[in-house]
Amino acid sequence: MSKQRVLSGIQSTGKLHLGNYLGAIANWVEIQHHYENFFFFADLHAITVPHDPKVLAANTYNMAAIYLACGIDLDCSTIFVQSHVSAHSELTWLLNCVTPLNWLERMIQFKEKALKQGENVGVGLLDYPVLMAADILLYDADKVPVGEDQKQHLELTRDIAGRINDKFGKKKEPILKVPDPLIRSEGARVMSLADGTKKMSKSDPSELSRIEILDPPDVIKRKIKKCKTDPIKGLTFDDPERPECHNLLSLYQLLSGKTKAEVAAECQDMGWGQFKPLLAETTIEALRPIQEKYGEIMDNKDYLDSVLRDGAAKAASVANQTLARVKDALGYLPPL
Ligand code: AMP
Ligand code: TRP
Repeated sequence: MSKQRVLSGIQSTGKLHLGNYLGAIANWVEIQHHYENFFFFADLHAITVPHDPKVLAANTYNMAAIYLACGIDLDCSTIFVQSHVSAHSELTWLLNCVTPLNWLERMIQFKEKALKQGENVGVGLLDYPVLMAADILLYDADKVPVGEDQKQHLELTRDIAGRINDKFGKKKEPILKVPDPLIRSEGARVMSLADGTKKMSKSDPSELSRIEILDPPDVIKRKIKKCKTDPIKGLTFDDPERPECHNLLSLYQLLSGKTKAEVAAECQDMGWGQFKPLLAETTIEALRPIQEKYGEIMDNKDYLDSVLRDGAAKAASVANQTLARVKDALGYLPPL
């Protein structure tokens, strides 16, 4: 039996942080050998908020190197740049025309991001989840590993696929495969170092709120030293009054590879002065091999170029077949 297909993407905006690593990439690395995988850099999504053309290409490229450095294995995974496969834009248009506007207006992420932008909300921001649906549906993905924040977009993708199938499919032969989300329970949400109730995010104006995958050891030490804590001695998980404590213990758990029970026992009598250096060292050691590998890959750009070239070709060969299937179902005149 052939392997199930996994697909996921990450926006190529800003620098990747521990939330991206623990909530997304580490998850993919862990499961990749059980599946046939497609992982891509969502540079079309990256311009749904104001962007700087001078850094877009470099962000996308660096991200590809980080994926490889984190352990994405090209024997079972294809990595590519979203904008290199034009079927993503084209299927988005077709899906747009069957997606009710009020489905998009309901999206939490749209409402949150739109609020931040005031008058300047582009149509692309509203359409973001439709592009995401196209990303997923083009590859007949069975499973889509994402963080919890993307769950609603996955539901929408399923609804759009269902609608295309209902409207245009013949009962026994659905046109699009309806994918399942794959949400990791632990570490699914890494919170800000400055506020344990807010998600760690690339767009937070304060760099102290996040640890980036490429942060050097001294920066990691400084950020953890300055991170928000509370005046209580003894560290515990799951206390709603202590969101920072829960977040930092969870980070330690994930980065050290220990179980929750082990960490709870180890830290129950600790104060912050003892815990913070421990977390800093654990973070530095967890990121060290990734940073070393990243350096090697960036020293060999021919290799990275060829990986992305091959990835785009492989992705396009799958995506174009799905696109042709959808166009056929919608009644388009084939190219003559
Ligand atoms: P983004 O940085 O918003 O493009 O997200 C890329 C991927 O990382 C998605 O799968 C997100 O769900 C995941 N992600 C982003 N921030 C976090 C976070 N703070 N905690 C866990 N996962 C996250
Ligand atoms: N919207 C996703 C995020 O911010 C990134 C993304 C774009 C994605 N297209 C995707 C994730 C397709 C999974 C599948 O995290």
